[in-house]
Amino acid sequence: MTATLEHPRTVGTVLPVRIAGLGVGLPARIVTNDELAAELDTSDDWIRSRTGIAQRHVAAPHEATSDLAAAAGKAALADAGLGIEDVTTVLVATTSPDHRVPGTAPLVAAALGTEVSAFDVNAACSGFVTGLRVGGALAATGDGAVLVIGAETMTRIVDPEDRAVRVLFGDGAGAAVLVPDEHAHLGPFDLGSDGLDPSMLWCPDGGTRTPIAPTADGDPYLRMRGGDIYRHAVTRMVASSRAVLDTAGLGVDDVDLLVGHQANARILDAVVQRLGIDPDRSHVTVDVHANTSAASIPLALADARDRGRLKPGATVLLTAFGAGLTWASCLLTWDPEEDA
Ligand code: UT7
Repeated sequence: MTATLEHPRTVGTVLPVRIAGLGVGLPARIVTNDELAAELDTSDDWIRSRTGIAQRHVAAPHEATSDLAAAAGKAALADAGLGIEDVTTVLVATTSPDHRVPGTAPLVAAALGTEVSAFDVNAACSGFVTGLRVGGALAATGDGAVLVIGAETMTRIVDPEDRAVRVLFGDGAGAAVLVPDEHAHLGPFDLGSDGLDPSMLWCPDGGTRTPIAPTADGDPYLRMRGGDIYRHAVTRMVASSRAVLDTAGLGVDDVDLLVGHQANARILDAVVQRLGIDPDRSHVTVDVHANTSAASIPLALADARDRGRLKPGATVLLTAFGAGLTWASCLLTWDPEEDA
C-alpha cells in the first residue's frame, strides 16, 4: 500500500478490501411533509420542490443512535454470513452520539456482544466515507472483518421550531462489513476539511468552547446557513469526485453508479450535471430518508443493492460533504470476486 500524493488530500491507495455485507436500521415511524406542515409554517410543496424530500424516518422516544447502529450492524453481519466473533473493530460514524462521553461505538459493540476496539468518527455527513478510509486500512492490515456504521438520530438535535432545518433531516443507520480480499478495490480516496467557518453548520453551544450550564441560556441545536452550505456542497463534491477519478485514471463514463450524500435532490442534480454523469446513474433516496447525515450513503448503497443496481464488478463512486466543513469521496468495486 503506497500513497500517490499528487494532490495533497487525495489518497491514491487502493485497498484490497471489499464490502461483504450491508445492513440498515431504520425507525419504524415515518413522518410525512404534511405531518410537519401541521406543526410548522411549511408545506409539502415547499419541501418537495426545494429538497426532493417526501418523508423521513423518526426514532421512537426509547431509540437512540446506538440502537439504530446496532440493528444495522447486526443486519450487515447476517448479510455477510459472518458472526460478531469475526469482527476486529467496530467503527461508528456519527454526529449525533448517544452521549458526549463515551463514544457511541463501544455501546454498539456491547449491544452486538463484543469487546473489540470500538471508536467513533465524527466527520458529520462525510463520516461514512471517512470511516471506509479508516476501516478499510484496518481491514487491509488486520486479520478480520471491520464493521463500519453510519448512524444518526438527527431529529434529536434539530430545533423543533426551526422550519429551515427541521424539515431536512431524518434518522437511521447503515452498516458495511469490510473484509480483506486480494481481488478487491476500495479507493482511491479523496478527503479534506476546511474548519475556518464552522458556524455554517453547527450546534453553537454545549461543547467545551461554550458549555451550557444547567441554568444558563445557550443554543444546543443544529443551525445552518443553507445557501452557503448548498454552494460548498456542490463545489466540494464535484472537485472531490474528479480528484478520485483522476487519480484512478478513470472518466465519468467508467462510473456505473454514483451514490452521493443524500442532503437535497437539487444538490445531487447539480453534482451530476457538473460532473457530466448520466443522471440515471445517480442513486437517490433523499425522497424517502431525508438527510440522515453519516447514515445517508450506506442507506442509499443498501437500497441500490436491494433494487439490483449494483452488478458484480460495478464501479461505484461515493461522494459526501458535511459540517466542518468536511468532504470525502472514494471509488469501490462491487462484488469483485464474481467479476474476477
Ligand atoms: O448534509 C449537508 C448539509 N446540508 C445541506 O447540504 C443542505 C444545503 N442547503 C439546502 O439544501 C438549501 O439551501 C435549503 C433546502 C436549506 C434551502 O433552500 P433554498 O432554495 O436555498 O431556500 P432559501 O434558504 O433561500 O429560503 C427561501 C425562503 C426563505 O424565505 P424568505 O426569506 O425568502 O422570505 C425561508 O425563510 O424559504 C423559507 N423557508 C421555508 N419556507 C417554507 C425556509 N425553510 C422553509 C420551510 N418551509 N421549511
